[in-house]
Amino acid sequence: MPTEAAELVFDEATKVYPGRDAAAVDHLSLTVPAGEICVLVGPSGGGKTTALKLVNRLIPLTSGYIRIDGRQIGDYDVTELRRSIGYVIQQVGLFPHMTIEGNIGTVPRLLGWKRERIRDRVGELLELVGLDPEEDRKRFPAELSGGQRQRVGLARALAANPALMLMDEPFGAIDPIVRARLQDEFLRLHREVRKTVVFVTHDVDEAIKVGDRIAILREGGRLAQYDTPQQILEHPVDDFVADFVGRDRALKALTLKTLGDLELSPATDDGLPRLSADTSLRDALAVAVAERREALLVVGPDGSPLGVAKREDLLR
Ligand SMILES: Nc1ncnc2c1ncn2[C@@H]1O[C@H](COP(=O)(O)OP(=O)(O)O)[C@@H](O)[C@H]1O
Ligand SMILES: [Mg+2]
Repeated sequence: MPTEAAELVFDEATKVYPGRDAAAVDHLSLTVPAGEICVLVGPSGGGKTTALKLVNRLIPLTSGYIRIDGRQIGDYDVTELRRSIGYVIQQVGLFPHMTIEGNIGTVPRLLGWKRERIRDRVGELLELVGLDPEEDRKRFPAELSGGQRQRVGLARALAANPALMLMDEPFGAIDPIVRARLQDEFLRLHREVRKTVVFVTHDVDEAIKVGDRIAILREGGRLAQYDTPQQILEHPVDDFVADFVGRDRALKALTLKTLGDLELSPATDDGLPRLSADTSLRDALAVAVAERREALLVVGPDGSPLGVAKREDLLR
């Protein structure tokens, strides 16, 4: 099993649960390039959880193939396969009678790591997910908030440096403010430790924010579209996708670009609202509308003017 980020391929992967007529996942074919975050999104019952469980062989494929770095999952030893895939679920599933250190060290212990090495790794991971490496390691899950438990779940999944992470609605049960923070931290963490990630959500906004690519599944586990967030928002392939991403998809697309991405006109500072170059086009439009302005002054990190963005430039 590779330890670097691995490419993941679904090739006509199909699951029909015993006794069912309809497939839960139906001839799913898609490639997740090494190091990318692929978000699986779709209606409840669309086969998202099933698709994840096929990868770590919690459930067997009915037909088709899944390959990790070119090798079929059936060819790996199943224990080795599961230990080299990080799995994060909504209910976290921390062991309540174990400390946070004990929880995060689960897979390293199974792999026979020395105590010292596990201690160091736990500290490193707690730091990485924004918890206190000294204080929090001694706590028990019941002493943590939902958001903190979710971070521990993430740290535990990362413990043995897996090549692949499967995340099933990891922030689903968290309130919106903490959720947004966890999303930001997850993205920061992903820039540091480039894993291949399959991230399941039923929330389109989360998919757009987190995904390098988004796979939209429709009922019956059939792939409706697999594309970058930009492509999905600007060119949904059919009405199902267009409805799913929402009538405000043009506005959502504006969250993907910043003022710094625009070609700006020469700066003329005549009392225009000043916005930094990393402001999203959506937020910039909100300011232009609220302040009834046709143009905005874009400034760099040090506050120096970079140029002027006209309102119509935001919408092109
Ligand atoms: N263990 C199971 N046995 C039989 N049918 C199942 C099982 N798990 C899920 N299903 C069915 O498979 C379909 C897809 O479910 P699931 O993968 O959980 O979807 P999602 O995660 O997108 O909500 C649903 O129709 C569900 O009822
Ligand atoms: Mg599910």
